[in-house]
Amino acid sequence: MEKLVVKGPTPLKGEVTISGAKNAAVAILPATLLIDGVCTIENLPNISDIKISCTILEKLGAKITWNSPHSITIDTSHITTTKAPLDLTSKFRASYYLIGAMLSRKGEIEVGMPGGCKLGARPIDQHIKGFELLGANVTVEKGRIYAKAKKLKGCPIYMDIVSVGATINVMLSAVLAEGTTIIDNAAKEPHIVDVANFLNTMGADIRGAGTDVIKINGVKKLEGNATYSVVPDQIEAGTFMLAAVATRGDLLIKNCITKHLESVTAKIIEIGGNVEDNGDSIRVWCNKRPNRATIKTLPYPGFPTDLQPQMGVVLSLANGTSTINESIWDSRFQYTEELNKMGAKITAHGKTAFFEGVKKLTGAPVYSSDLRAGAALVIAGTAAEGETEIYNLEHIDRGYENIEEKFRKIGAKIERVTE
Ligand code: EPZ
Repeated sequence: MEKLVVKGPTPLKGEVTISGAKNAAVAILPATLLIDGVCTIENLPNISDIKISCTILEKLGAKITWNSPHSITIDTSHITTTKAPLDLTSKFRASYYLIGAMLSRKGEIEVGMPGGCKLGARPIDQHIKGFELLGANVTVEKGRIYAKAKKLKGCPIYMDIVSVGATINVMLSAVLAEGTTIIDNAAKEPHIVDVANFLNTMGADIRGAGTDVIKINGVKKLEGNATYSVVPDQIEAGTFMLAAVATRGDLLIKNCITKHLESVTAKIIEIGGNVEDNGDSIRVWCNKRPNRATIKTLPYPGFPTDLQPQMGVVLSLANGTSTINESIWDSRFQYTEELNKMGAKITAHGKTAFFEGVKKLTGAPVYSSDLRAGAALVIAGTAAEGETEIYNLEHIDRGYENIEEKFRKIGAKIERVTE
């Protein structure tokens, strides 16, 4: 078993470079199934979710050449099966994108029920509603999803809930459909724009991504023969911004799109941190105890749920009592029990948590319950006095490229140890 051992407290200082966005990349990879040919994808994050995605695509018949740890050339000319490996597809959430992509490409797909972080109920009814409106027949049986369509036909689709996954999945299934699809009440996250940009580069006709109405004019074919670079990961960037505040450090975060980070920037300034926005890099520093705050997570451009645990570490050390209301996921406060083991004073009731700020955290053995909880514990360990041992690293490795290396370069005393 592996664990991270962090010795603190250390104010994080220096420069860190952000990787490609996990949540864009895990959608762009299945989107290559729409191309009857070859394309190159660059700036892929080197994380386990990407490796699993590539293995699944290979099992479906794609040929992948690794040009570097961050770039692949993928040939999807010969897709040989419509059955995705159940064990692998059940391992992570984004396997649901295979449904939209394979419905477009082959008119049929069988996948395992998507897995991923345990954040409470994660229904996919809006995805299924979209596929069915486009003309597919979808059944869920024995832990598998079967989807089949003789022909997909564009139509208006109103999303009852703002969903990142359903918006992207419906986009994937509509690109090659006959006629026009209009997704209303669409999600607006930067990764939705990135997937649309990728598909448009390959020949799709998608307009309005990044607003709540996306119009997709079906095209006959995507040609490929192009290179696309994945957008920088705004959640990784936000993680380092909050790490700078929690540890009272000073970080220059390079290769990010600061426009994607406005809600985080605003909160950091509100609690007394400092931010210098350079457009494609951002400097964050803090030399005093942060002030209390009230946070509500919301779909983009609101404060992201995927930065809620990292902000929770900052607020557990703030002056006064803070409140976080988690409006997206039912169970995203599991990390608060781990922070309490480190001396935090957090009370979580359902989707609200109260953070009575303490002056310091102290090291303890802690368990990461999901990806962002794991990142929060790395920040907490760096800010805390003494030694913190972090377990369940498989969650962190799913979404953060070489986390200990990046933290070590900015001063953290962190080691990965095999027990
Ligand atoms: C994506 O999950 C991200 N995952 C999540 O990131 C992120 O937390 C989430 O969006 C919200 O930003 C990927 O992109 C792979 P949703 P997704 O559909 O698409 C409800 C991380 O840490 N809903 O936007 O699965 C749902 O229950 C991960 O990187 C339905 O009711 O999220 C939730 O309350 C964790 N029916 C809300 O909508 C549906 O059909 C938003 O979910 C779909 C969703």
